Amino acid sequence: MSESPFIVSLDLALSGDGAPPRPGYDRALSAAGEALAWLREQRKTGGLELLGIPGRTDDIRAATQAAAALKSFATVAVLGIGGSSLGGQALTALRKTKKPFVEFHDNPDPFSWAAALKRFDLKKTHFIAISKSGGTAETLIQVLTAAEALKKAGVKSLTRHFTVITEPHRSALADFAEGIGAARLDHPRGVGGRYSVLTMVGLLPALLMGLNVRQLRAGAGAVLDQALGAKTPADVPAATGAALHQALAAEDKLATTILWPYADALAVFGGWWRQLWAESLGKDGKGSTPVSVLGPVDQHSQLQLFRDGPGNALFTILSVDTGGKGAAAPRGPAKKLGLDYLAGKRLGDLVDAECRATAQTLFKNGRPVRRMHLAKVDEFHLGALMMHFMLETIIMGRLMGVDPFNQPGVEEGKVLARQYLAGK
Ligand code: PA5
Repeated sequence: MSESPFIVSLDLALSGDGAPPRPGYDRALSAAGEALAWLREQRKTGGLELLGIPGRTDDIRAATQAAAALKSFATVAVLGIGGSSLGGQALTALRKTKKPFVEFHDNPDPFSWAAALKRFDLKKTHFIAISKSGGTAETLIQVLTAAEALKKAGVKSLTRHFTVITEPHRSALADFAEGIGAARLDHPRGVGGRYSVLTMVGLLPALLMGLNVRQLRAGAGAVLDQALGAKTPADVPAATGAALHQALAAEDKLATTILWPYADALAVFGGWWRQLWAESLGKDGKGSTPVSVLGPVDQHSQLQLFRDGPGNALFTILSVDTGGKGAAAPRGPAKKLGLDYLAGKRLGDLVDAECRATAQTLFKNGRPVRRMHLAKVDEFHLGALMMHFMLETIIMGRLMGVDPFNQPGVEEGKVLARQYLAGK
């Protein structure tokens, strides 16, 4: 059996005052085993397209060609919202190149967008419009207004200024691409927006930022293979994580689930995870609110509440090898200030100590803490984390008896907004 690319410990979650009753956890873990069997079957039959994505290479070629064609632009603005943006945004933490500069525009705030259009050197700006459905109003209004701005800036042909990623069927966005003769890449039909980061949706921005997308997929593939090849669900972090959540939910102790990375490189990742968990699992009167915080900074903002507040949250503290890294506090000056404990210590040592301190503080006060540790944040480990959390979400959906792949609430909002705009 291959090893997981990160280490997970439930010691501070399955013991202490905040732990769920062990029989409840064991029952949930056994059900998670059934969910894994279902996933194995899906992989065998190709029923769940997501599970085949890490092994794909054909689309990398198309994405590489598309990225190469955009190298001469100064800016690439990625237009899209929700699952069509948050995965790519999470990948910006690994950005290696700044030409073209890739930036994401998701929220259609009139003032921010006007400022962006004014700031762009439009003749040197390319827009990648991403929408699975091809009918999302926020993205379409950005596309239409960007096209108008390009024309006003004297751009004669829009063709080379747009790339569209959407499902291969007719839609407003597909028609727009066809109308101007823009490049069009397929959004896989069987992969939902919030599960799409490993598809063309994430690949193209990633390549433009200089990321190694093969490594991204390799990390995801390693987690998938480990999860589906394991003999027991107890060896699968996504299964134990889902079981832990479910066991707490059964005790009415899971209003909130908190992801707490101690690494700036995972700050934006938290936004991607939040959508994944919320939109997949908040259904039928069930669900838990995902909260994404950052360490150590949020110790000085949220920890008081987390330690002494309602006590219905699970904490996932995510650490990276930071010990011995970063600038060191010079010994002499530190000692002169009476800071012996800091003398010679590096920023990474401080982060490491704070991370351990937070986990213990929460645990000692009866708050369940799952710890996850990865060596570093690179393409391989980010891909691995993404697959881990996608699997955990899917397994959790099966434990809860909700469909983790639909989003009726989002659709209802989209329909109503269209009606209001049409004056109905
Ligand atoms: O994950 C989801 O399904 C949603 O958040 C969508 O990604 C979001 O609503 C945007 O939809 P679309 O990609 O169709 O424009």
